[in-house]
Amino acid sequence: MALPKSVRLVEVGPRDGLQNEPGEVIATAVKVELIERLADAGLRYIESASFVSPKWVPQMGDAREVMTGIHRRPGVTYAALTPNLKGLEGAIEAGVEEVAVFTAVSESFTQKNINCSVAESLARFEPLMTRATDAGLRVRGYVSTTLGCPYEGEIAPQKVAPVARNLLEMGCYEISLGDTIGTGTPLKAKRMLEAVSREVPLDKLAAHFHDTYGQALANLYAVLEEGLAVIDASVAGLGGCPYAKGASGNVATEDVVYLLQGLGIECGVDLNKLIAAGRYITGELGRRSGSKVALACG
Ligand code: HMG
Ligand code: MG
Repeated sequence: MALPKSVRLVEVGPRDGLQNEPGEVIATAVKVELIERLADAGLRYIESASFVSPKWVPQMGDAREVMTGIHRRPGVTYAALTPNLKGLEGAIEAGVEEVAVFTAVSESFTQKNINCSVAESLARFEPLMTRATDAGLRVRGYVSTTLGCPYEGEIAPQKVAPVARNLLEMGCYEISLGDTIGTGTPLKAKRMLEAVSREVPLDKLAAHFHDTYGQALANLYAVLEEGLAVIDASVAGLGGCPYAKGASGNVATEDVVYLLQGLGIECGVDLNKLIAAGRYITGELGRRSGSKVALACG
């Protein structure tokens, strides 16, 4: 299949990037400034916060303040993660217009991450979906551990499809396929996508690849070749998952934009402004960027 002509980028840095940051809780004003800069760079979808238990994920404890602190620009979606009804109610109160639910292929990861089984997580999403729909919110769905699990190792591609289909049937408008620990390689990514797209239309799927083993760009190229046109990425390659030991950040947004530009694929992002946004947050965190492109343009 031909490469897509344009790709929709889902910026997850303020959520996936910052949720695992060790040490002091990052100031709300810094998170808000980052989100503003990302919007200014042309990103049109920014996952900005997470309405989860602050005991589990302290860095996301100010989700309400972040979501009410941002200056909403027309044409930009500011989304938040909601694992349950309590999280959804918090998101609605904070004026969030789109939320995401998350589960996984593997049982052990789901237990560690959200303290329930895969089936229980899906059952938990049912009332959430009803409430979200009644409130006029769109819901995105995540499936984690699609290319490997930190506790169970290899994941068979055909195990991913039913979970993704379940989320779709429940009403999620898009399913993001997570390589949570970044162990995937291009052929595996392709096979997984092939298996899932037999049950969920390709135009309802997104790639959410972490770069722990340095394979994320190669994996993305493999799924772009299959026609996938929605990519999740994190500015400066920030992040990791608190319940996946050793997981590093998502593929860096700067690197994805550079790749797409080289391929002649539209994504609507100003690379220089994006690099500046990355420089801002890595400066605040006192760490080196995880983006090769940002370092090269340093
Ligand atoms: P639980 O302990 O089983 O929940 O946690 P519970 O219903 O028994 O409640 C326990 C306490 O948590 C209660 O408070 C609740 O009120 C509170 P207490 O009475 O003890 O004071 N609580 C909440 N507080 C705030 N917001 C909420 C909420 N719900 C309950 N929404 C729960 C279950 C799901 C809440 C918990 O396990 C949790 O918050 N987990 C967070 C997991 C998480 O954020 N993981 C990272 C995101 S997923 C990810 O990164 C992967 C992804 O990027 C894709 C990929 O890379 O593959 C998306
Ligand atoms: Mg992730």
